[in-house]
Amino acid sequence: MLETSPATSIEFVHDLETLTGRECAEARGVLMELRQQWILRNVWAPFYTLGAASYIDAAADYSKYAGFAAQFNPVLHQHFGWLHQRVCEVLSRELGEPVKLAEGLAHPGFHIYLSSKLFEKPIASIHCDSQYLLHEWKDPEADFTRPISFTLPIALPVHGGGLNVWNLAYHELSAAGENANAALLNSRQRTYHPYRAGFMAMHSGHVMHQAAPGRDVQPDDERITLQGHGIFSRGAWRLYW
Ligand SMILES: [Fe+2]
Repeated sequence: MLETSPATSIEFVHDLETLTGRECAEARGVLMELRQQWILRNVWAPFYTLGAASYIDAAADYSKYAGFAAQFNPVLHQHFGWLHQRVCEVLSRELGEPVKLAEGLAHPGFHIYLSSKLFEKPIASIHCDSQYLLHEWKDPEADFTRPISFTLPIALPVHGGGLNVWNLAYHELSAAGENANAALLNSRQRTYHPYRAGFMAMHSGHVMHQAAPGRDVQPDDERITLQGHGIFSRGAWRLYW
């Protein structure tokens, strides 16, 4: 039986039991069969996505995002429609409101990191999630004050994977620029949230966070996660990547 802990706040990270070990293995197996469809995202390291990602594609060129979404949404729907449905069910139970896939945006897709010692470096950015600003929401009441972000690990390195989270919220960031915000960040506590395969880590995205560097990466390591965000709009949470 799936269990979730009631959330009193989505400011910090909540783990929601979503997939069994067998389901994680099934999803991983299908993903490996779709390797021809992975998009290489880094020329130096084996980092791929399956699907379009707002923070990469929409940030660079919106027509590229739209093109990838049109290309990969049918692939994701065909092979991982069941997984999207499960994610919607688990989030809906947690949030107490309907959860659907956003129309016209990329479906939640995968980050795929194969093995590389480069992943032991802190190469991932420290950021808050504000991808929703890249999209045109047709509903003027789309609520940007309480977004969600989620990561559902289906395979993790032997020595684990997780999220660094700082006790610093989006609204505290200063318009004074990067140096001021770096000083603010250094003054705040950092905690490490370890991922668990099959458990969806959900948070607001509005606290500073970073994909934590790998620890003693092994040759067979894989770090595979389903990624997405949600905005409440027209009576339901709308999920996208
Ligand atoms: Fe993020």
